[in-house]
Amino acid sequence: MNAAAPVVTLDGPSGAGKGTVSRAVAQKLGWHYLDSGAIYRALAVDLMHRGLESRNEPAVVDAAGRMDLEFVFNPGFSVMLSGKDISSSIQSEACGNQASRLAAMPGVRKALLEKQRGFRKPPGLVADGRDMGTVVFPDARFKFFLTASPQIRAERRVKQLKEKGMNVNLDKIITELLERDQRDENREAAPLRQADGAIFIDSSEMTIDQVVERVTHAVRGH
Ligand code: C5P
Repeated sequence: MNAAAPVVTLDGPSGAGKGTVSRAVAQKLGWHYLDSGAIYRALAVDLMHRGLESRNEPAVVDAAGRMDLEFVFNPGFSVMLSGKDISSSIQSEACGNQASRLAAMPGVRKALLEKQRGFRKPPGLVADGRDMGTVVFPDARFKFFLTASPQIRAERRVKQLKEKGMNVNLDKIITELLERDQRDENREAAPLRQADGAIFIDSSEMTIDQVVERVTHAVRGH
């Protein structure tokens, strides 16, 4: 870890566009990118592969600490678990929901903390998640809280999943999204909240390009 490398954090609820925006900002700045949600999602896949019971908290925490996870940029973004590409299996809503249950376990969050901080390298890092600005990188130079109305977030998620060939239902997605928001906002460990000093962006009426522009503008200072 290099404490001097600058960090930009983007936190917010599911489907706010954080991933797309963060990747674009990282690319524009030439900085590294951390998709922290992918780590929790990979843990869900890891438990499933190894037939581990997700309610067995000590076993889950142990698995979180041992996970052999790598992000590969080629130039797309691939998530490798023990050398196997799990990028498509982590995209389902079921995996996101399971990740959110595991992410509520304090021991799991603790086991994954240093793994996340290890992504901080020169020339800088763009990190997206729920607690990037509050817990993982509290000293980040630029913090953003990105949100949008539940309807818009669900519509975007449906579009994204349909483009990937998945069969999805809008009402079900809204219900699951609200459940996930509830769990992420109300858990004891690192709940989703706007970090002190974070810039609030409601992207309901904005295009992805406008949000990317707003963030890069704030970071570059012009
Ligand atoms: O962002 P994404 O939808 O991939 O995250 C999946 C789940 O992982 C979230 O619903 C949240 O519960 C959890 N998560 C978290 N902290 C982060 C990133 C994700 O708790 N920094």
